[in-house]
Amino acid sequence: MRKKVLFLFGTRPEAIKLCPVLLHMRTRPCDFDVRVGVTAQHREMLDQILATFEVTPDYDLNLMLPGQSLFQSTTRILAALEPVLAAETPDLVLVQGDTTTTLCGALAAFYKKVPVGHVEAGLRTGDLLQPFPEEMNRVVTTRLAALHFAATEGAAQNLRAEGVDSGRIFVTGNSGIDAVLSVRDGLQQGRWSNYRRGPFWSRIDDSKKLIVVTAHRRESFGEGFERICAALAQLAERDDVQVVYPVHPNPNVQDPVNRHLAAKRNILLIEPQEYVPFVDLLRSAYLLITDSGGVQEEAPSLGKPVLVLREKTERPEAVDAGTVRLVGTNVPRIVEEANRLLDCPEAYQEMARIHNPYGDGHASQRISESILSFFAERSRG
Ligand code: UD1
Ligand code: UDP
Repeated sequence: MRKKVLFLFGTRPEAIKLCPVLLHMRTRPCDFDVRVGVTAQHREMLDQILATFEVTPDYDLNLMLPGQSLFQSTTRILAALEPVLAAETPDLVLVQGDTTTTLCGALAAFYKKVPVGHVEAGLRTGDLLQPFPEEMNRVVTTRLAALHFAATEGAAQNLRAEGVDSGRIFVTGNSGIDAVLSVRDGLQQGRWSNYRRGPFWSRIDDSKKLIVVTAHRRESFGEGFERICAALAQLAERDDVQVVYPVHPNPNVQDPVNRHLAAKRNILLIEPQEYVPFVDLLRSAYLLITDSGGVQEEAPSLGKPVLVLREKTERPEAVDAGTVRLVGTNVPRIVEEANRLLDCPEAYQEMARIHNPYGDGHASQRISESILSFFAERSRG
């Protein structure tokens, strides 16, 4: 029988990773009745992704507050989800990742006794303070979920080690790879015919090596960001590089980045980019410096080396394969590792390998099949 699946999400990365899944399910109307609720924990950055994938939510709770605290976002999101669940009575709620919306979506469904499917389950650093509060959000979401869609065998193993029933764990690949590969292919094949490179491209000098930067993690607010900015300023003193940095709108990021980097030569600070332009930037980059989870997954599929501005990662596969390296927020470490990749072609070639540890572009289909098999098994008793 057709299953009503309610997608709940609210931030940019959740939207990038859930839109491919919901669009896939919409191609199967005999199997799925797809409903979409967004908390809009992010406003502008969520809207950019909804526009890219042409998704119109059935519910838009419009909850973002500028400079919101975790207490504010958590309490407001949880309260606002109650009437959505009451109105929809879905067969399944799908949440993704480890944000406040993920945690509240799973908890709200649990309170209504609706089974929860967790997309990108099983990521762990093993340190509840890194990333903060995401590691705790993941752990709690695992306890609340009935179905666990792990991107990799390693993530599935993390879940089994915590006692999650193996029959409820499905290794599907990461649906973010569905998104990045389809946009990359679309760009190569000219399918995004409306896309034009933004005005900042006229300031990009092709003769220089392009370093694309993103950073926004809470555990780096304050001194960590001061150090990240110091390292970027030092790197940009080289005449053969150009740093392009779409700056996250969080005031804790905007303030130090604008203060330290706005006037630096060879550094271009730009607005958060829509997804197609950002993938265009990624594929044009020589090197990525980031603390983003999603970028760590996308870069290996595009063959781009990544220096990760964190001490620990929940995505060890690309680190083990040697295409991603952890550099923390330590100024000399960031600068030395970047200089090595800029100066030593052998070191660069070793890290610039295309591989797909996080997925093959078919996660959405596997997630959909797993859901149907779960309900078929349940109806058999
Ligand atoms: C959130 C997630 C984090 C995820 C990140 C992706 C939590 C606790 N954290 O962090 O896991 O990696 O999103 O980017 O859920 N803002 C805007 N416009 C936007 C988005 C954000 O102005 O479109 C500003 C607002 O001032 C907002 C602030 O950024 O209050 C912080 O947003 P919030 O979602 O609370 O945290 P993030 O740091 O974005
Ligand atoms: N991204 C984007 N525009 C940007 C920067 C990032 O579309 O200007 C995409 C990026 O390709 C990845 C996702 O946003 O898919 C990562 O989101 P973010 O860094 O906000 O969160 P995280 O992945 O760390 O949770």
